[in-house]
Amino acid sequence: MRFQDKVVVVTGAAQGIGEAYARALAAEGASVVVADLNAEAGEQVAGDIGGLFVRTDVSSHESAAALVEATVDRYGGIDGLVNNAAIYGEMQFDLLISVDWDYYRRFMSVNMDGALVMTRAVHPELQKRGGGSIVNQSSTAAYLYSGFYGLAKVGVNGLTQQLAHELGGMRIRGNAIAPGPTDTAATRTQAGDAAKELVKGLALKRMGQPEDMVGACLFLLSDESSWVTGQIIAVDGGQTFRP
Ligand code: NAI
Repeated sequence: MRFQDKVVVVTGAAQGIGEAYARALAAEGASVVVADLNAEAGEQVAGDIGGLFVRTDVSSHESAAALVEATVDRYGGIDGLVNNAAIYGEMQFDLLISVDWDYYRRFMSVNMDGALVMTRAVHPELQKRGGGSIVNQSSTAAYLYSGFYGLAKVGVNGLTQQLAHELGGMRIRGNAIAPGPTDTAATRTQAGDAAKELVKGLALKRMGQPEDMVGACLFLLSDESSWVTGQIIAVDGGQTFRP
């Protein structure tokens, strides 16, 4: 019960990897806030784990502020934030050189800026608790050709490193997880049968499961990682090498 008396906000927790994080955190004693655009699925997850659902758009400062207010009203403060939400399953396929500009701006406002919008709203609450931990969801797409999706994740990595310095003096740590191909409904929509080919290139010849990400996330949120900040940890079955 590493998270007894801790309050953790998980964005994009209505399904997929975020849902796995929310369930695992609740199982280890955390009060979990499920922050997602999808109210039906989000309410379901929050109900299952005895947590709180708050309909949230991570690209909106107003929505992020309302989330903080609702969380503090219910639980009295915040100790951890997982910036997992992204446009992914329903993402349009297009090139950087031709993608509709309005779509590109909206995409980046969620997939890259969303982590910053949420961090700006939540960090004063972490500071009030004497510190806290933020985990951003990156992707191995940041290291591979994947167009604007990968570009947003490069931004998430940069944000993680820069914010670690801005927040370190407040005893707030910031790290990221870069999952490899993970078997969620969104990946099945995106990759379909191509995922089977992808798996052949991994050191470990299987897709990741949402539960494979949980160990790293809970480690980074917990005091076990109290001197770890600004890091991007690949949990990818050996998909990528980095110097
Ligand atoms: P998913 O599409 O199943 O879950 C994303 C969640 O974010 C959904 O519940 C969606 O409603 C929510 N969301 C979307 N826009 C939002 C917004 N503006 N505000 C609040 N919530 C919003 O995706 P999955 O597969 O669970 O991935 C989760 C995260 O992991 C994403 O950041 C994704 O980029 C990343 N990732 C996923 C991989 C995979 O293979 N599944 C691999 C590497 C990274």
